[in-house]
Amino acid sequence: MEEYRHEARGHKLESTAMDKETWDAVDAFFEETVVKAGPQYDAINEATAAGGLPPIAVSACQGKQLYIFAKMLRAKRILEIGTLGGYSTTWMASALPADGELITLEYDPHHAEVALANLKSAGVGDKVKVWVGAALDNLPSVTGHFDLVFIDADKRNIPAYLEATVKLTRPGGLIVIDNVVRGGRVVDPQTGDADVDGVRQAHVDLAERDDLVATSIQTVGKKGYDGFTLVWVPG
Ligand SMILES: C[S@@+](CC[C@H](N)C(=O)[O-])C[C@H]1O[C@@H](n2cnc3c(N)ncnc32)[C@H](O)[C@@H]1O
Repeated sequence: MEEYRHEARGHKLESTAMDKETWDAVDAFFEETVVKAGPQYDAINEATAAGGLPPIAVSACQGKQLYIFAKMLRAKRILEIGTLGGYSTTWMASALPADGELITLEYDPHHAEVALANLKSAGVGDKVKVWVGAALDNLPSVTGHFDLVFIDADKRNIPAYLEATVKLTRPGGLIVIDNVVRGGRVVDPQTGDADVDGVRQAHVDLAERDDLVATSIQTVGKKGYDGFTLVWVPG
């Protein structure tokens, strides 16, 4: 654990330890100030927990980032892989115009059921279609082009999801892949963990794609130490 001091604009700022408690407090400050999530988001997390689903949705700060991406892209169609209880789905669907559409793919029928109820309660049910089943089985039936794609399901299949969704993303569109740092294990080729291998392979694949523009960002916050990849389809 590392202590540090920082001086800025004449104010001496004394840091706390760089640990999870600090990251939680900073996220809470950001949530209160800039994020300002409506009550529907806490309600979704509560209903998701009550339904027995794991607490693995994106944070409010991350959800708002997806909302901003959708707004910047003037998204009318969004594709998500990995619905859980519909938390990230609701952030992105809230950025859509009245005639916008979001398709979200979810393997677990119970997760899909909880998500459908949450999406309806949050007032975005009309814009969202939840397709139940393995994403790799359903992706061949997804047609048309999307402005924004959010990949957040089983990490071992990220390379296949990437390959499929690049073809479904409009020129100028964006693909966001979540959980690509995995506590730093992404740099270890010998974890024996198929999810780490999936993230690593996606990066190798992206290195060979001169037609795509990509970067990966490390993050800390209430979700711990992780990160995301941005893949922009030029256009
Ligand atoms: C991290 S959670 C999604 C969180 C959600 N995007 C959010 O932030 O609110 C991952 C979800 O992907 C689903 N999933 C796992 N494997 C899948 C697969 N092969 N096809 C579709 N969904 C899958 C899981 O059941 C789980 O609900």
